[in-house]
Amino acid sequence: MTKETAPERQNGCVLSIAGLSIHYPLRHTTIRAVENVDLAVHGNEVLGLAGESGSGKSTLALGVLRLLRPPGRVTAGQIHFDGVELLEQSEGRFRELRWRRFAYIPQGSMSALNPVMRLQDQFSDTLVAHGERMAPAALRARCTEALHGVGLEPDILPRYPHELSGGMRQRICIALALLLGPQLIIADEPTSALDVISQRVVLETLAEARRAIGASMLLIGHDMALLAQVTDRLGIMYAGRLVEMSTTRALFANPQHPYTRRLIASIPDVKDRRAFVSEAGESEAQWPLDAPMVEVAAGHFVRPWQGGEGSSREGAAG
Ligand SMILES: Nc1ncnc2c1ncn2[C@@H]1O[C@H](COP(=O)(O)OP(=O)(O)O)[C@@H](O)[C@H]1O
Ligand SMILES: [Mg+2]
Repeated sequence: MTKETAPERQNGCVLSIAGLSIHYPLRHTTIRAVENVDLAVHGNEVLGLAGESGSGKSTLALGVLRLLRPPGRVTAGQIHFDGVELLEQSEGRFRELRWRRFAYIPQGSMSALNPVMRLQDQFSDTLVAHGERMAPAALRARCTEALHGVGLEPDILPRYPHELSGGMRQRICIALALLLGPQLIIADEPTSALDVISQRVVLETLAEARRAIGASMLLIGHDMALLAQVTDRLGIMYAGRLVEMSTTRALFANPQHPYTRRLIASIPDVKDRRAFVSEAGESEAQWPLDAPMVEVAAGHFVRPWQGGEGSSREGAAG
């Protein structure tokens, strides 16, 4: 099971993406939803990916999971998962990997629960579908453990999804996603359908359940305050590109790129209500997104922009 292999996942890369581009070719134009993205998710780490709607976060996740919707396709790059190049795998081999080692928690996943099926049957179906055969007592123990992992009691198992609150339904989805002990969790705005209070609590539950099984997580979101709560490192996406990547602590303590600063400034602050103020004179048109990222401090990478520290390197080819 997962727990035995957890320690060896402490080090090294679980997921490593290099030069990844994903495009949607349309009749008159091509949407470059993801362009030349490099990132790595290390063992036992939560990497956050933030950026406004349309910045390419979901496309990146779907590209890794081979779930892109037409006409989306990967046009360049490599995706290594635990040493295996995913893009080179056959459909069958890839499906097996995704099935056994990935957990995908998409936006609004709680609506994916079967409304006419008791929760206990949804749990046993998940286990059976993955080829796990177990006696009823063992099944019950497994479900109980999974529910405890997300702060729920097994007495809800005979219930139907509509009998639960949104927050509880989302916890059930997390429990189902983690039931088979995945090595990598990809969660795309997993709490965005919930109210603000539930979002925090459910996200913390997800983070704890992840920690308990020693999985790594790529956590996508647009709410910087929520992401700050549970991520180890954060990448900031803008128009399909990464513009900044660093530890979450350094990103908040010393944000570099104007877009990162704008995202942080948009967090409503109870002490200082000057929220949503953008920096005077900065213009998105001046952000040269092709220049290579510059390491401004150990592990803190930023895309140079005009007027910024790295601007002397702007002429460099990307
Ligand atoms: N199936 C699709 N067909 C065409 N364009 C798409 C499709 N899905 C997403 N896009 C476009 O790709 C870009 C990135 O979208 P998306 O990955 O959903 O961003 P995010 O998750 O950051 O909101 C957007 O411009 C979006 O309109
Ligand atoms: Mg999205």
